[in-house]
Amino acid sequence: MGIAGNFIERNLMAFPGKVKIVEVGPRDGLQNEKRIVPLEVRVELIERLGEAGIRAIEAGSFVSPKWIPQMANTKDVFARLLRGPDVQYSALVPNMKGFEQALAAKADEVAIFAAATESFSQKNINCSIAESLNRFKPVASAAMSADIPLRGYISCGLGCPYEGEVSAKAVANVAAILEDMGCYEISLSDTMGKGTPFKAQAMVEATLERVSLSKIAIHFHDTYGQALANILACLEIGVSVIDSSIAGLGGCPYAKGASGNVATEDVIYMLEGMGIETGVDFNKLLAVGQFISEYLERPTASKVSTVFGQNRQASR
Ligand code: HMG
Ligand code: MG
Repeated sequence: MGIAGNFIERNLMAFPGKVKIVEVGPRDGLQNEKRIVPLEVRVELIERLGEAGIRAIEAGSFVSPKWIPQMANTKDVFARLLRGPDVQYSALVPNMKGFEQALAAKADEVAIFAAATESFSQKNINCSIAESLNRFKPVASAAMSADIPLRGYISCGLGCPYEGEVSAKAVANVAAILEDMGCYEISLSDTMGKGTPFKAQAMVEATLERVSLSKIAIHFHDTYGQALANILACLEIGVSVIDSSIAGLGGCPYAKGASGNVATEDVIYMLEGMGIETGVDFNKLLAVGQFISEYLERPTASKVSTVFGQNRQASR
């Protein structure tokens, strides 16, 4: 079938009426900041995101502080946090040591993170893909026993900083293993932010042959400005869980050249504009983005927030 045929067929498919936003700014965003963001700012950021109506927030990670010093005090973040009643606070964990800390911190959810390429796996977590999956097995069993939901990530879904092109099949293979392990949600990640819409769809479609639609999430960095287009393409085939980051913060220190995640403000603006329900209070969200950008002394990466900020200044 040619592209035109594809287009018509896709148009018949329904967009989801409701989308779950997974806010990763407090983890993916702050892990990539040069300066270590103080505890009270991390806590305020997370609390305000909850107050703005975000129901899934990745609050930090329990990884080696030698590898990611920015996340060193995640334990204290969890301890200080005033938790909202309906908010899930999750933590990234690479191994049992991380899981035990997450359990002690009373994280509501843990996320394991694998890669679609061997080189990225080595650089990011110092082991092969197979070794990482072996390390995750006890984490998965322990999470099941403790009744803690388990999420999985697959990095480099649409390109690798070390190996270039990545096949959709490689992503689907890892996704199937993560699902077998017990992940209730698997976040297909464009770590480099290089992907384009049909490639994003191809990655999801290959994964759909192995994993059900309700378990698929997308996590797109926005380096090449393609993230919203890629999200739209995935919504069109029914994906309804989107990772994003307040003010477009983010990046992985082992993916040089990649910029932050798609900005939560921009995603919410698009979804609400399409009549897709998110449960997020847009004005409160804009204020959270402004808060963290002011703290970091940097203009926001959110286009929508930039416009609202300019309008606010103009009306003064
Ligand atoms: P290693 O050096 O191979 O591990 O690192 P090790 O087991 O030999 O341990 C080395 C030291 O780290 C030991 O301490 C361990 O105790 C300690 P020492 O004896 O030297 O004092 N250690 C830990 N400390 C705290 N918490 C732990 C932990 N584990 C070991 N959980 C390891 C292997 C996986 C630990 C390391 O490579 C690591 O921490 N990597 C994390 C890298 C990372 O966080 N990257 C960013 C997040 S992933 C991402 O951003 C991508 C994503 O957003 C999706 C996308 O966009 O692609 C999710
Ligand atoms: Mg990421």
